[in-house]
Amino acid sequence: HDHVLTAKQFSRADIEAVLDRAADFDRPTGDTRHTDSLLGLLFFEPSTRTKMSFEAAIKRLGGDVLDMGSVDSSSVTKGESLADTVRVIEGYADALVLRHPQQGAAKMASEFVDVPVINAGDGAGHHPTQTLLDLYSIRENAGLDDLTIGIMGDLKYGRTVHSLAQALTNFDATQHFVSPESLALPPEVRYDLDEAGAAVEEHTELAGVLPELDVLYVTRIQRERFPDENEYRAVASAYGIDRSMLEDAKDDLSVMHPLPRVDEIDPAIDDTDHATYFDQAHNGVPVRMALLDSLL
Ligand code: CP
Repeated sequence: HDHVLTAKQFSRADIEAVLDRAADFDRPTGDTRHTDSLLGLLFFEPSTRTKMSFEAAIKRLGGDVLDMGSVDSSSVTKGESLADTVRVIEGYADALVLRHPQQGAAKMASEFVDVPVINAGDGAGHHPTQTLLDLYSIRENAGLDDLTIGIMGDLKYGRTVHSLAQALTNFDATQHFVSPESLALPPEVRYDLDEAGAAVEEHTELAGVLPELDVLYVTRIQRERFPDENEYRAVASAYGIDRSMLEDAKDDLSVMHPLPRVDEIDPAIDDTDHATYFDQAHNGVPVRMALLDSLL
């Protein structure tokens, strides 16, 4: 079975196949081809978008979910291991969607089961299905050819960034990374980009590069990943945007964010044509429908 573990596993053809299929699901189709399919949801960390859009996706395909529920209400609290948990739930469900605080958790789980495991976020590692909906959104707005994108905020702990950066190496994209030095891209992600021959620049300030951008992908500082709250406070709120900053941007700049946001994007931007983050979140349903349709 195919597992979905990192964005590095996607070729350009894989990505385009999912995005093309997602376009078919952009409106309700009434096509319930997966009536007998059950999707196991194993969320060991909070989620609104990923969990609910996977649930919407399988239900719109005619299937249903089996939700482990919160860690507190599961036998994880009795000390059950992740390996045992997934080995049990694979007997109940046709695919497993796993979010877990530990980097590498989905890969480890995939080694214990035969049904597809979909990584819905593994600590500060990867979030490959977020990347598919991000690419779908970029394709709808700026387009994926000859793209200049700025990716700003927590590049160290931001798993959506790691997956998106790797997937963009399949396209003709220039990637500008903007962050405090302490939250720069992890060396292993930068290494992958260099290996792929990607056009990459790293910056500590947005202002110099903003006028060139077709897309600005803003991220939340991942407070829950900092070993020390003081380190978090030193960088919190430093990499946000407000409406006046966008005066220097291209008229058709698309501002994206995987959400949830805290204060990185001034809500005054929500009413401008730059704001694409709510559409981006909505695209999670057709994109995950396309992915599930191909896996199940
Ligand atoms: N973008 C994203 O993964 O959101 P949730 O944490 O709400 O799933």
